[in-house]
Amino acid sequence: MSITEGGRIPVHRFSHGSRVPGWDDAVDLTKPPAVVPDPGTTPVPKELRRTIVEAMQRYPDRRSAAIPALHAAQAEYGWCSPEAITQVAAVMQLTPAYLTSVATFYDMLVTHPKPPNDVFVCTNISCSLRGADELYEAMLLAAAENPNVDVRSFECLGACDIAPMASVNGEYIGPLSPDDAATIVEQVSSGQPVLPDKQLSRRPCVDTGTGPHLLFKDIDEPGLNTLEVYRRRGGYEALKQALSTTREETLNQLLAANIRGRGGAGFPMGRKISFLPKGDMVKYLVCNADESEPGTFKDRELMQKAPHMLIEGIAIACWAGEIDTAFIYIRGEYDFQADILEAAIDEARAAGYIGENVLGSELSFSLVLHRGAGAYICGEETGLLDSLEGKRGNPRLKPPFPAIEGLYDGPTLINNVETLSTAPTIILMGGEKYAELGAENSTGTKLVSVSGDVQRPGNYEVELGTSSREIIFNLAGGTFPGREVKLWFPGGSSSPVLTKDDLDLPYDFDSMAKAGSMLGSGAVIVVDDSHTVLQVAQKLAKFYAHESCGKCVPCREGTNWTVKMLQRIESGEATPMDLDLMASVQTHIIGNCLCVLGDAMAMPIGSIIEKFRPELESEIEEARLRAGTGLAEDAGPFGNADEFAGPLPVH
Ligand SMILES: Cc1cc2nc3c(=O)[nH]c(=O)nc-3n(C[C@H](O)[C@H](O)[C@H](O)COP(=O)(O)O)c2cc1C
Ligand code: SF4
Ligand code: FES
Repeated sequence: MSITEGGRIPVHRFSHGSRVPGWDDAVDLTKPPAVVPDPGTTPVPKELRRTIVEAMQRYPDRRSAAIPALHAAQAEYGWCSPEAITQVAAVMQLTPAYLTSVATFYDMLVTHPKPPNDVFVCTNISCSLRGADELYEAMLLAAAENPNVDVRSFECLGACDIAPMASVNGEYIGPLSPDDAATIVEQVSSGQPVLPDKQLSRRPCVDTGTGPHLLFKDIDEPGLNTLEVYRRRGGYEALKQALSTTREETLNQLLAANIRGRGGAGFPMGRKISFLPKGDMVKYLVCNADESEPGTFKDRELMQKAPHMLIEGIAIACWAGEIDTAFIYIRGEYDFQADILEAAIDEARAAGYIGENVLGSELSFSLVLHRGAGAYICGEETGLLDSLEGKRGNPRLKPPFPAIEGLYDGPTLINNVETLSTAPTIILMGGEKYAELGAENSTGTKLVSVSGDVQRPGNYEVELGTSSREIIFNLAGGTFPGREVKLWFPGGSSSPVLTKDDLDLPYDFDSMAKAGSMLGSGAVIVVDDSHTVLQVAQKLAKFYAHESCGKCVPCREGTNWTVKMLQRIESGEATPMDLDLMASVQTHIIGNCLCVLGDAMAMPIGSIIEKFRPELESEIEEARLRAGTGLAEDAGPFGNADEFAGPLPVH
């Protein structure tokens, strides 16, 4: 296939804030303006056209179909070739330039020719602690001579419980070892099922339950993902109960439960609903199922095994908030879970739980599942809204907050999968009873994803306020024999790190905040003493540099500088002064960005420098010895700081 197929040079993506070569060239004003291709003279395969048209019909604004349409074009042609993009543009009546700008933002959309089979090896933090970098090398080697297999390293795929893992044409497999690489390549290129025993889809939940199980009750019951079994278990009774009372009464139950959002920010769900303006206008609900925070994989298990619980929760929230149009934005990599959800939505619609006058009540709402295409920033609520509107997933300036001006500029409630899935339980238990569970200001139970250096990684449902030691040692099996906890992230990779001295802290929002960290999405990543903090910091910084959308300077430059400063330590060029400089860069990022992605790197990196400075200083000295750059104290007042004059790294 020609690289200049269609007469244009395909644009490669580098990171979400692309520094494509030529990105800062002056604009060529002599170029003809971008035009929408003429549908009359642009041939489009019938099936592709039908898929795109159907996708456009699902949304109030046809542009929202950009990602589904590009996914379809990529499936047809193997990549988003200029021809494919022109065809999508002709059907959607957009310019190819617009669609190219969308395609180049997302990791799963590829704008260059590639082999037909995809192997995404996760090399993010939890997988890397368990040997992912060696696995990735082995995979590259095994596929080197095979033109049918495209091996790429990927950021957290939301399956840290099976680390190290890979997604093979969408099928999640793990835990893997480098010895599996040859078999994977052989099986995928000959069209066989890949390592069936290691497929995540067959794995039961590790939490067999000692604590109160509200969300995980009988979670592995066969067929729970179907309407029949869900209803047999009392499913949709909460919705019936809510609909038999007023919207106000339903909202009062959610307010009394005081459930704080489970997606990261911890804002109370009931209060968020009460911020929505009242009255006759289109209001939206968007369920955030992007789940891309490294270490987090709880929503995946919920959606796969109990999709109707989420749908019922969405219906209850729509009732409480007078909402008529709902979407679930699911990360593109969760293909398997998206298929299950789609089937469940169809079943629920056919049974009258979605649509006009649900169960004969005044509730009428629509629900559409929207698949993303690989970008962590689309988990940030306003980046998600732009992405759902069919654009690059750039966050928006707040205020206005989505409750006032969100999707298509309308009032929008955004909640996480786990938050919404809890609504049926709250209605059945009653808000006040639910609030008796957990800790003060941290009511109820929480799904905690535990990964990294523990013996039984997985999702556990615990009452908020449970001791962190209980979660890490009793439930997740603790560190491996002979190893100790060096540090742990209590709320995903963006939470400031804690140490072994913090293991007895109650696991709840306020205790984590008091300890200088946060509960975040409820993802505990444990790092034992076999790893260096430099390794951990490098993984973090590279991830955030890759995921920065590039819209604001402190985040775009600060994440890249941090990567470079950490590389200087590794290559023996740094002095302890670099640690001060790096700490100061983090301080300048925090609070100075448009969204908190910048802070999400700066907070954990800052905490690592603060808590592990002696180890980093020894790393600096040891690396200098290895590289033969002499003692740091002899390197002069600025060390090797001249290096900073060089160009910034390009991904
Ligand atoms: C960079 C970034 C990534 C985020 N990723 C997610 C995510 O994957 N899933 C999620 O529910 N919330 C995520 N959030 C939080 C959302 O912005 C938002 O607060 C949340 O979806 C609200 O739902 P909740 O109140 O139920 O927690 C992210 C925030 C940031 C800043
Ligand atoms: S902090 Fe700024 S550059 Fe970074 S992801 Fe958010 S909007 Fe984009
Ligand atoms: S799946 Fe690899 S770090 Fe999460």
